Amino acid sequence: MKVLVTGGAGYVGSVFSHVVVEAGHDVTILDNLTTGNRSAVPEGATFIEGDVKDRIDSVLAEGNFDAVLHFAARSLVGESVEKPDEYWHDNFVTTLALLDAMRAHGVGNLVFSSTAATYGEPEQVPITEDMPTSPTNAYGATKLAIDYAITSYAKAFGLAATSLRYFNVAGAYGQVGENREVETHLIPLVLQVALGHRDKIMIFGDDWPTHDGTPVRDYIHIRDLADAHLLAMESNSPGQHRIFNLGSGDGYSVRQVIDVCREVTGHPIPAEVAPRRAGDPAVLIASSEKAKQELGWNPTRTDLRTIVQDAWAFTKNLGDAAHSASRVR
Ligand SMILES: NC(=O)c1ccc[n+]([C@@H]2O[C@H](COP(=O)([O-])OP(=O)(O)OC[C@H]3O[C@@H](n4cnc5c(N)ncnc54)[C@H](O)[C@@H]3O)[C@@H](O)[C@H]2O)c1
Repeated sequence: MKVLVTGGAGYVGSVFSHVVVEAGHDVTILDNLTTGNRSAVPEGATFIEGDVKDRIDSVLAEGNFDAVLHFAARSLVGESVEKPDEYWHDNFVTTLALLDAMRAHGVGNLVFSSTAATYGEPEQVPITEDMPTSPTNAYGATKLAIDYAITSYAKAFGLAATSLRYFNVAGAYGQVGENREVETHLIPLVLQVALGHRDKIMIFGDDWPTHDGTPVRDYIHIRDLADAHLLAMESNSPGQHRIFNLGSGDGYSVRQVIDVCREVTGHPIPAEVAPRRAGDPAVLIASSEKAKQELGWNPTRTDLRTIVQDAWAFTKNLGDAAHSASRVR
């Protein structure tokens, strides 16, 4: 298939791009490099530097693509609360431009990166796809609105689409992993302490109603996540918009994550407890049963230690590369 990957220089998009190139597909990446890295683009993929909203129409007009994998988005929860205007434009309006361009140029197959943030504070866990959606921030709201738009485009215009609602994505695939200037995700932040780039890790609240008082989250290995995208792309059906949660089905507390990072890195990783952050749910765990049954998805890297080991191998290598670069100078 000829595949367009938006945001393919970012964390999730670049791992998917490596996997889809390895699977023998023809890949073009469109990315404005706001949070992505040119070096994460796989050999064998065509790279176009540009913003989806400016370039999508001409790229789809000329490319003869079979499918679009839409990863490009802004995804900092706190920032979305302070600057909702930017999130509605950059996520929602840009994705509408993408849907219209796909329709105009006869590209009928879409896989969209949605998120657990569409559910907000869940009434119960594990979260299934039929539970109420009630996002607590603009980021989650833009993703939910896009899901609604996709559903109506599928119904009216025959779009074949899947939205994948990821929980906490983590780990690495060889030399591709999380490498952002502004990092907010727990595992890379903890590993930055082990690398000596931060003094300590902050724990936001240790008085939550969980077994050790710290928030519990569901971590999904990036390579398992990439497999789900391939399966979705290959099984999309015209007129149908499917929505699947993707997680490991297991919850780990912040303290458990820090402990596993200590074991894997051999570093003491100092931690400090700070007050709770507003809007953080106590427990988020996905049910991925629907994806397993209907997509045939079979995640094999669900153990937290495997996820941390892969993330550490990547992070350590980045740290070593930066260290030797500074010594050369
Ligand atoms: N990482 C997670 O845990 C997680 C969880 C749930 C959902 N998601 C979703 O998955 C997708 C990828 O997330 P990620 O963690 O890889 O983020 P990321 O920031 O690493 O990657 C996003 C990529 O998109 C590019 N980009 C952003 N806006 C663009 C635009 N308008 N035009 C062109 N390129 C643009 C960035 O430069 C970057 O390369 C996002 O849509 C995010 O909302 C991620």
